[in-house]
Amino acid sequence: MTELENELLNTLKDVQEALAKVSGESELEECRAKFLGRKGLLPALMAKLGTVPKEDKPAVGKTLNSVKQQVQAAFDEATAKIKEAKEESEALDISLPARHDRIGHKHPISLVMDRAVAIFRNMGFIVADGPDLETVWDNFDALNAPQDHPSRTPEDTFYFDLDKCDWLDPQTMLLRTQTSDVQIRTMMAQKPPVRIVCPGRCYRRDTPDATHGMSFHQIEGLYVDENVSLADLKGTLGAFAREMFGEQTKIRFRPHFFPFTEPSVECDASCIACGGKGCRVCKGSGWLEIAGAGMVNPAVFKNVGYDPEKVSGFAFGLGIERMAMIRYAIGDLRLLYDNDVRFLHQF
Ligand code: PHE
Repeated sequence: MTELENELLNTLKDVQEALAKVSGESELEECRAKFLGRKGLLPALMAKLGTVPKEDKPAVGKTLNSVKQQVQAAFDEATAKIKEAKEESEALDISLPARHDRIGHKHPISLVMDRAVAIFRNMGFIVADGPDLETVWDNFDALNAPQDHPSRTPEDTFYFDLDKCDWLDPQTMLLRTQTSDVQIRTMMAQKPPVRIVCPGRCYRRDTPDATHGMSFHQIEGLYVDENVSLADLKGTLGAFAREMFGEQTKIRFRPHFFPFTEPSVECDASCIACGGKGCRVCKGSGWLEIAGAGMVNPAVFKNVGYDPEKVSGFAFGLGIERMAMIRYAIGDLRLLYDNDVRFLHQF
């Protein structure tokens, strides 16, 4: 066998080995250029045919043709393999279950909060804000809470640093027990008239049960101007209840006590489940409590530097969880905080 034939057969082996390792189109093209290109190895060998002695030519020519065919076959096979792999990877498997977009949505507490805010904004209230971490002064003193008010004790309220601070010291920090602190913050910061609502979170040291949590939400309202009356309060809460729970909803006031309002009331809405006839939801009474409210106590006006002879006002605090439970007929408040998507995605 001539040297040229040897070289040809070795090159064929190289081609076959190189193509076996090729895994993509660009690698295939590199191989093609290396072996078949204008300056490739095979054309270079073919050119040498001219230098072969006459008597060897027929045999070498035969080998050359056979090598050429085998090289072509190897390239054809590699090309087909790569094409097939590409088609497979791009194929659409229609038997695959579709991927559903799991788009999140608002929590029922946020839904009720947003709705309450929207209703009051339509009436001309502006949204105010206050911190959850509050001073004793803003949360209790300025709101006229007497020093011996039971809600002030560390059994009822979360205080900070009680090993260093006194829970009756106005500067001691606590987690606010109500959003009424925003009444104080707002009036300290501006002159009357005031017409604000403040949605926010409150904290109390309650043992969680079906109707109580250590943390819950309120929306506070405050309207201060000349000649604001209890009738304005009743009209405002009545309009709110009709928007929130339906046109047929009625409200009623029951006398109550809050240190920062005088007179004070608790506000009930007619039961949305039975319309007021009495059922399990309203425990037979026909009414559901939704808010504490009243006329701003003149003592509070004095604490923030307003003149109680010139202005009057009303305030209310609506319970968000309570309203969510009523609106969505939820029997246990804890469900709102369990974060079970099977529960939450219903709203
Ligand atoms: N802050 C009171 C509470 O948490 C509710 C309230 C707000 C009462 C405003 C009167 C006026 O119970």
